[in-house]
Amino acid sequence: MSFNLRNRSLLNLQDFAPRDIRYLLDLAADLKRAKASGNEQQRLQGKNIALIFEKASTRTRCAFEVAVHDQGGHVTYLDSAGSQLGHKESLKDTARVLGRMFDGIEYRGFHQSVVEDIARFSHVPVWNGLTDEAHPTQVLADLLTMQEFGEKPLHELSFCYLGDARFNMGCSLLIGGTQMGMDVRIAAPTELQPPSDLVAQMRLLAQTTGAHITLETDPRRAVAGADFLYTDVWVSMGEAADVWKQRIAQLLPYQINTALMQATGKARTRFMHCLPAFHNLDTEVGREVHEKYGLTEIEVTDAVFESDASVVFSQAENRLHTIKAVLVATLA
Ligand code: CP
Ligand code: NVA
Repeated sequence: MSFNLRNRSLLNLQDFAPRDIRYLLDLAADLKRAKASGNEQQRLQGKNIALIFEKASTRTRCAFEVAVHDQGGHVTYLDSAGSQLGHKESLKDTARVLGRMFDGIEYRGFHQSVVEDIARFSHVPVWNGLTDEAHPTQVLADLLTMQEFGEKPLHELSFCYLGDARFNMGCSLLIGGTQMGMDVRIAAPTELQPPSDLVAQMRLLAQTTGAHITLETDPRRAVAGADFLYTDVWVSMGEAADVWKQRIAQLLPYQINTALMQATGKARTRFMHCLPAFHNLDTEVGREVHEKYGLTEIEVTDAVFESDASVVFSQAENRLHTIKAVLVATLA
């Protein structure tokens, strides 16, 4: 079977068919092996890539930069502080300028409609580096990590996402898991469950991929038998700091701690997190939440985060290999 993803944008996981995602995961595994053995072939020589970040980033920015450098291309980083973006020039105009100079554009920001507009007006491939609604490149790394640690094909594996499931990570994991035919569980209070139109769309897709989708409010029931437990911050970038109080009240029962890991009934359940994580008091936000609300660890306990079950740094590394696969597939 031949795949041609050239010139395609990745704005949301649904832009790609399940077989395209499988191809990207295989390519990422190949690129990972090639880098480790010193046999990487540079397929992005002469390519110029713009990286726009309207929100902060460590992993996504570094993964794009290192991936492009490894492949022989060049990157230019733009944020709101050091460019005309937003203050003096609209994104529509910026997209048309960048499209004349760059071969592709990564964008991280707020609304999904913005990344869609950039793709529409720039006429070059655009990759979503996170919006409020979606984080597709993260989920590619997560699927590769589950494949590596699950030691079974993805369609034989189960994961449970616990936390704010109506935001980017919950929605993108629901999509990616359904596309790969997985046993997908979402554990969240009713008001933080994924949007109902997305759930309906995924239930329809599940009929062809064989995925099994469970939406639960009871965390212990949701995690029973799960191969992976996954969580994310309870308050995302761009949300007001004053939502912490309500979010803690809503999500404390969904914290991933040793008791919840044991509630899977499986000795080899792994812990996943897209990072950054609040698992101790070593961060400013962690200390502020501690002072105001008394929690010393938030969405995951330090014991679980630091345990042998935790695969979070392998996930972080896989951001590089999967983003590189997306770039090579869509540009080279
Ligand atoms: N997981 C993730 O997207 O991390 P950054 O915010 O550091 O890019
Ligand atoms: N939901 C988080 C994900 C960070 C990678 C956020 O949007 O801040």
